[in-house]
Amino acid sequence: MLETIKEAADYLRRKAPFKAEKGIILGTGLGALVDEIAVEYVIPYQEIPHFPLSTVESHSGKLIFGELQGTQVVVMQGRFHPYEGYSFDQVVFPVRVMKMLGIKALFISNAAGGINPDFEKGDLMIIEDHINLFNGNPLIGKNLDELGPRFPDMSRVYNKKLIEAAKRFGDQHDWSLQKGVYAGLSGPMLETPAEYRFLRVIGSDAVGMSTVPEVIAAHHMGMTIFACSIITDVCYGKIQPVNIAEIISIANAAQPKLSQLIQHLITQEI
Ligand code: HPA
Repeated sequence: MLETIKEAADYLRRKAPFKAEKGIILGTGLGALVDEIAVEYVIPYQEIPHFPLSTVESHSGKLIFGELQGTQVVVMQGRFHPYEGYSFDQVVFPVRVMKMLGIKALFISNAAGGINPDFEKGDLMIIEDHINLFNGNPLIGKNLDELGPRFPDMSRVYNKKLIEAAKRFGDQHDWSLQKGVYAGLSGPMLETPAEYRFLRVIGSDAVGMSTVPEVIAAHHMGMTIFACSIITDVCYGKIQPVNIAEIISIANAAQPKLSQLIQHLITQEI
């Protein structure tokens, strides 16, 4: 497996000779950030050796190398989810390749359901911690010692300085910027009312189907991590059937805020 990661990284070094420092995974609701990047290279996933083969949803996936607010970045436009049938190793493959390319910090976004009753649709939630409810994780199996330790500590996964900087930025702009715990589970079905109640009881503030595998792999490799959810639906009280079109439209409406926040954080010293 290490060989495949190195081969993908070697290919990218040849095709995109560009020294990026920070990585970004664009989830639902961060597409607009691409418009802010001075793009240098665009590499479709299907051209990169050993990258997972696309399903329809991630078909347009590409790596974008360029400059954002004067910072050299590599951006994953399109991510892989376990519910699409990818293994955890496949889901985190691009993150491991980023590490090989010298990326030290990773910024992640996603759409999530709000479990905390103080949250409203359209709020942003800075992820302070997570609960892994996926039926697995990318570290099971032989440990790749070159990447990280067998038993990684998980007490400080989400970077405190970036969380504080995000909070200050939100306050300055008078945004309703929440902080909380993201529960990650596989989906693709949404949750039952009993599952939402369970998620609240165990301490979740938001729930979604991504991010946790990538964060585990990135943290294993010692990367600095910042992650933020857009709360696209609220899952407490009298729960309404989830409308995927509405989720996407709320995520899109929150894009400018999240895009501004990431542009601010990307310039921070870490
Ligand atoms: N549950 C799981 N994933 C989600 C949700 C949800 O309610 N909303 C957006 N992604």
